[in-house]
Amino acid sequence: MKKLFPFTIGLAIISNLTGTIAAQTTIPVETGNVAVVLQTDKNNHLKIIHTGKKLQAPDEYTAAGRMYHLSGDGGSSNNNAFTVAGIDNNFSEPAIAVVHADGNNSLDLRYENYTVTHEDAATLTKITLKDAVYPFYVDLFFKAWKNEDVMEQWSVIRHMEKGTVTLNKYASANLYFYNKDYYLTSYNGNWAKEMQPEQTQLKQGMHTIQSRLGTRENLVGSPNFMLALDAPATETSGTVMLGQIAWNGNYSIQFETDINKKMHLVAGINPYQSAYTLKPGTTFETPRFTYTLSFTGTGTGSRNLQNWLRNHQLLDGKGQRLTLLNNWEATYFDFDQEKLVGLFKGAKDLGVDLFLLDDGWFGNKYPRNGDKAGLGDWQENKKKLPDGIPYLVNEAGKQGIRFGIWIEPEMVNPKSELYEKHLDWVLREPQRSEIYYRNQLVLDLTNPQVQDFVFGVVDGLFKKNPDLAFIKWDCNAPVFNGHSQYLEKSRIPQSHLYVEYTRGLEKVLQRIRARYPKVPMMLCSGGGGRSDYSSLKYFTEFWLSDDTDPLERVFIQWNYSYYYPAIAMCNHVTDWGKQPLKYRVDVASMGKLGFDIRANELKPEDRSFCQEAVKNYNGFKDIVWHGDLFRLVNPYQSDLASLMFVNQDKRRAVMFNYLTNSRYISEAAANPIRLQGLDPAKKYRIRELNLYANQKSGIDESNTYSGDFLMTIGFNPNVTLSRTSVVLSIEAL
Ligand code: DGJ
Repeated sequence: MKKLFPFTIGLAIISNLTGTIAAQTTIPVETGNVAVVLQTDKNNHLKIIHTGKKLQAPDEYTAAGRMYHLSGDGGSSNNNAFTVAGIDNNFSEPAIAVVHADGNNSLDLRYENYTVTHEDAATLTKITLKDAVYPFYVDLFFKAWKNEDVMEQWSVIRHMEKGTVTLNKYASANLYFYNKDYYLTSYNGNWAKEMQPEQTQLKQGMHTIQSRLGTRENLVGSPNFMLALDAPATETSGTVMLGQIAWNGNYSIQFETDINKKMHLVAGINPYQSAYTLKPGTTFETPRFTYTLSFTGTGTGSRNLQNWLRNHQLLDGKGQRLTLLNNWEATYFDFDQEKLVGLFKGAKDLGVDLFLLDDGWFGNKYPRNGDKAGLGDWQENKKKLPDGIPYLVNEAGKQGIRFGIWIEPEMVNPKSELYEKHLDWVLREPQRSEIYYRNQLVLDLTNPQVQDFVFGVVDGLFKKNPDLAFIKWDCNAPVFNGHSQYLEKSRIPQSHLYVEYTRGLEKVLQRIRARYPKVPMMLCSGGGGRSDYSSLKYFTEFWLSDDTDPLERVFIQWNYSYYYPAIAMCNHVTDWGKQPLKYRVDVASMGKLGFDIRANELKPEDRSFCQEAVKNYNGFKDIVWHGDLFRLVNPYQSDLASLMFVNQDKRRAVMFNYLTNSRYISEAAANPIRLQGLDPAKKYRIRELNLYANQKSGIDESNTYSGDFLMTIGFNPNVTLSRTSVVLSIEAL
């Protein structure tokens, strides 16, 4: 065997173990500020040698790996670019585990080649790895969005073996971090308790965040996370990764720290019950692991993601949205067409754009008068709506507002005609009793006929009601009865169910968007059970939580805001909670504003206040929807929450301030709040918005301040026990 040479810079010639000569390849993948750098080793295995700040001189990357003298078992293999299962020198969690056509269950992926192309406004790097023995390939993709510092990473798996290969694990991404300490923020959840953050210092072993629910992936956890590197990050300091796995289904993100205190990350579809058989000549494309790295704290990181979503992912991310009045909490299932038409007037009075009819409008043999029956029978209930939806669309139009409607087309109540006619369309274990979640079961979207049915629900509504202006798409149950008759009949393993369900749903959404590209749709899932970036390609907005208590919402919205722009976040004013109406309206104004109250029963002074607040919202919504968000005071660290949105030319901003603990007036409210994102050289005037007619502002509006003053000294919004919520408009002179 030849003597091994140390690595040299560039495409150096080095010796490998078999004695042949191989060229060392270094592949930097860069956004504006971030770099993930890969490099082949002497055996042509691909390694990650840097994840972090981009270097000024890219040719210096080649030396990065040599600076680490990591010892101990696994020291030389834990940084694999795509960790495999089944060969000896691998000590860390695999990104891929397969059983070849001949029964062998090992992989040895070697670097083959790479290409760099341009797609959209991004650079697309494709790196092909091939097994040393089998005709088995993995293409690693990195889509690097320069301006937003966002990276999308996924893999495509393919082979030309003599039979099917079973994929037991098939991650999207595998990363390696050369840092000292790791602080993970992940989110627990439950119905009406979505996005509850927990920070964990990852010291040893494996930490996994995951869902196995099939649908509603955000229900008990969240695919969103932030990972602070070296030290906990603040809003304005520290190195931090923020991201999610963009998959509307079971996901798993694994963080594993090794003996050298380095961090190995594997993210992708959750392999739980999901072994996937892949035929020769076909491909398996994994979902995108989407993340950003910020070197100046979580504020920059979240603005990166918000910009990326608005610019490239969220449907109509740069467009407009409709304010609305929803009838869910105003009526629940108890309404008829007269009552609804009466509510239209309330919507008109408030000044909102649209009336949204929620659950309960359908089902005849089994009327949808509660959540136990009717789901699946998408015909107007003749008793409640004798003249059908067209009448309502028309009546709304007469009042000068638009009309939208709620559907939950992936689901069925056992008490429904759909269930009676098409039991084979329902996910259920034939030999076991059915397990319900909210009295319902999930339809089998692996079945193309069911896909047609779900598409038909939406298509039918639009065909009969071309002026329908909005859809709220709900999804209230996880997959508890994971068995598909369609897969069984097609001789496809049941272990394809979770993957094919998500793909089936995506096919339906693609068809809907091909025919109805623009109509706004809200992604809702029994509260905030779904908010993955892959779905947001088809939806204009999402429902964060059924918890609309404004005090809770300050926290829930705060947590979501790290990952989503306000234009995508639906916030409704309801009767939840003990806070005054003003507080509720102010909190809901920090996103896409809606109301879910009996607007026609408001007291005159409350109605006037809401009307004024809707007008104010129309005045500043462009800043909230398209501006930059700065989180100023964190309610987890004080009794105050303060956030501001600033428009692109820094001439206009709107600042929201809330007391989050009304037992006493805290110290937080005594201090000025330092603003961010303004132009230090500009002079600004501050005005208070959303006041009742008889209320005087608690701030002196006659002064002007420089951006420098506001960002260095700060401004006191004068939040007090009698002014628990304060909205300020900040305008350059
Ligand atoms: C759950 C949603 O989150 C609510 O807003 C409402 O639409 C109900 N479903 C209707 O059943």
